[in-house]
Amino acid sequence: MSTVIAEDVLSSVATRWRRIDPLLPDPTRPVDASCGADLTVPAATGQAAAVGWCRHHELASDAEELAWGAAAQFWLTAQVAGEPDDPGIGLALDELLVGWRAHLAAESATAVADSQATVRWPSRDIGGVRALLRHGLQPLTVIAARLAGRAAPEAASQRGGLRIRPAGPDDVTVATALTLEVIRFDQHFGSVQMRPQAEQVERHAAEQTLALPEPWTWLAERDGRIVGLLVAQPPDRAAWIAAATCRGPVAYLGTLSVLPGERGSGVGAALVAELHRKLDVAGVAVTLLHHGLLNPLSTPFWSRMGYRPLWTSWEIRPARALR
Ligand SMILES: CC(C)(COP(=O)(O)OP(=O)(O)OC[C@H]1O[C@@H](n2cnc3c(N)ncnc32)[C@H](O)[C@@H]1OP(=O)(O)O)[C@@H](O)C(=O)NCCC(=O)NCCS
Repeated sequence: MSTVIAEDVLSSVATRWRRIDPLLPDPTRPVDASCGADLTVPAATGQAAAVGWCRHHELASDAEELAWGAAAQFWLTAQVAGEPDDPGIGLALDELLVGWRAHLAAESATAVADSQATVRWPSRDIGGVRALLRHGLQPLTVIAARLAGRAAPEAASQRGGLRIRPAGPDDVTVATALTLEVIRFDQHFGSVQMRPQAEQVERHAAEQTLALPEPWTWLAERDGRIVGLLVAQPPDRAAWIAAATCRGPVAYLGTLSVLPGERGSGVGAALVAELHRKLDVAGVAVTLLHHGLLNPLSTPFWSRMGYRPLWTSWEIRPARALR
């Protein structure tokens, strides 16, 4: 791949991203090792230049991430030059995806059912959307962001016997059960899957988190019964996702779960209000979270809580199905 083309493309992308979304970071070459496939689209009449890096990622059977994605993952970092409304962006992305499809076709793991091809594209970079759709990719998950101080409605049902309290090591069983509820609900929307080992994996994760001095985990109790769970990561544990935005410090909201019979009565909002108070005290600038775009409960809920799409993950399974 020509380094000159890559540098030119990245500089053009940086300019466009700054214009379309002040929370996007500057584009960089991916820090994770790329597989080395040469994915370059030279500029031509009416078409922008583009570069891509492909990363192959195999998840272990006990990996926590296995609930949220396929076992064999192929990720494309796609960078396309151009001004925000340049129609050449779509054309170049289209050609980049053609090249990526040829690359994936030569990899045997892309034919396995439990595989996915994914492109993470800025949600507001709308010039790429039609090209992504044309190749059969589906917008399944977003990373949403909330800036500090972004108002959320007051939690109405702090009344009604609802109490929010920090969780500790004695709460592993209930935290595990409530996390499994999220997986159970979210598996309807495309990327999430309840794996046979999910209970064991989530229990292990809960044990580790709840043993920390500051687990950043809260439970909602109504009349003594636990009805909701929120798990977040403070900036020192959210470094893995901090590069998704140019602002910091970054916190991450990993799990919000309310028991089915208790949904729609303000439990989720009360848990989020508790976290937002903690975020303000900790001086967090941006809070990120993932949610399923097709989840009819979480998508409007997060919008009301002050979160908006920053990145959209476009997926197809198996990876070989990329058109
Ligand atoms: C998303 C979720 C955490 C929100 O928690 P919640 O306690 O239901 O949320 P709240 O009651 O505070 O707010 C939900 C809003 O939806 C409305 N609503 C109406 N009927 C509802 C229903 N059957 N279920 C959920 N919400 C309903 C509520 O009135 C409220 O709107 P409002 O703020 O305008 O009054 C919860 O629905 C849930 O656990 N869903 C399944 C798992 C999930 O999707 N987790 C999030 C993954 S990112």
